[in-house]
Amino acid sequence: MMGETSKKESQDDEEYDKTRRTFIKGATFSIGSLLLGGVSLERFLTPASRNTPVANSYPKAILLDSAGNPIKASQIPSATTQSSSYPIMSFNYPLQNEPNILMRLHGVKIPGPGVLYEGRDSILALSGICQHLGCTVPLLDYHPHGSIPFEAKLIGYTDSNWPDYGLLYCKCHGSQYDPTKGAKNLYNSGPAPSPANHSLPQVYLETDSNGYIYANGMNPESAVIRGHLWQPAGEVKGSLVESENLSGGTELPFDNTFGAYKTIVVSSSNGPWPGDL
Ligand code: FES
Repeated sequence: MMGETSKKESQDDEEYDKTRRTFIKGATFSIGSLLLGGVSLERFLTPASRNTPVANSYPKAILLDSAGNPIKASQIPSATTQSSSYPIMSFNYPLQNEPNILMRLHGVKIPGPGVLYEGRDSILALSGICQHLGCTVPLLDYHPHGSIPFEAKLIGYTDSNWPDYGLLYCKCHGSQYDPTKGAKNLYNSGPAPSPANHSLPQVYLETDSNGYIYANGMNPESAVIRGHLWQPAGEVKGSLVESENLSGGTELPFDNTFGAYKTIVVSSSNGPWPGDL
């Protein structure tokens, strides 16, 4: 009698496993189809005139606070391995409506070029447009070690496996980027396979003799910014990255006072610049 029951249970288990496998395969296929469909649709919707640069080269743009004052490196709050929160600091570059995330990490030397160093801190700017399917700040944001997003916990991240300096995490589908690696920041491909899964493009930062910060160019090793991905021949690389990144948008405004283009750093404090608090 016991033997009969065990046999029946084992048949039930087998049946359950088969159904589960079929379900997972079906779900994976559906998600894959959706993603591929999304990519194809994006390609289809991209107008032929999309690839017309609005400038010959990357603008040099001064970073200003919301009152129009230049920002110095010393004003940017730094995150450590102990930080449990970090303000969103975002600015548009190289064109309008192209958000980037500004971060300052204490105690780690992020590989350059285009990274600012002050004392033991590194200051870095990475695109705030997720390279997977284009979700932007604040869905994509930097989460220091003590601030694991709920969505990342759902896929298994805990205090013990969230990196010391945290990650840029995209809440749309879970793509992850490690800011301590600079331009080569893709942490893993995220749960959603996509030909567009690359590191977040890096904006070059520099300072003048007053210590004012400028965005001036983008790392040519990076892929193009998400949303600038398609030409008739497909995704571009190398020297074409610059013209592609400058295509199909609007230039930043020029500021005669500083003799440079300007871009406003928006912070999550929604008031005074965080360094003044
Ligand atoms: S858009 Fe960011 S993970 Fe999909």
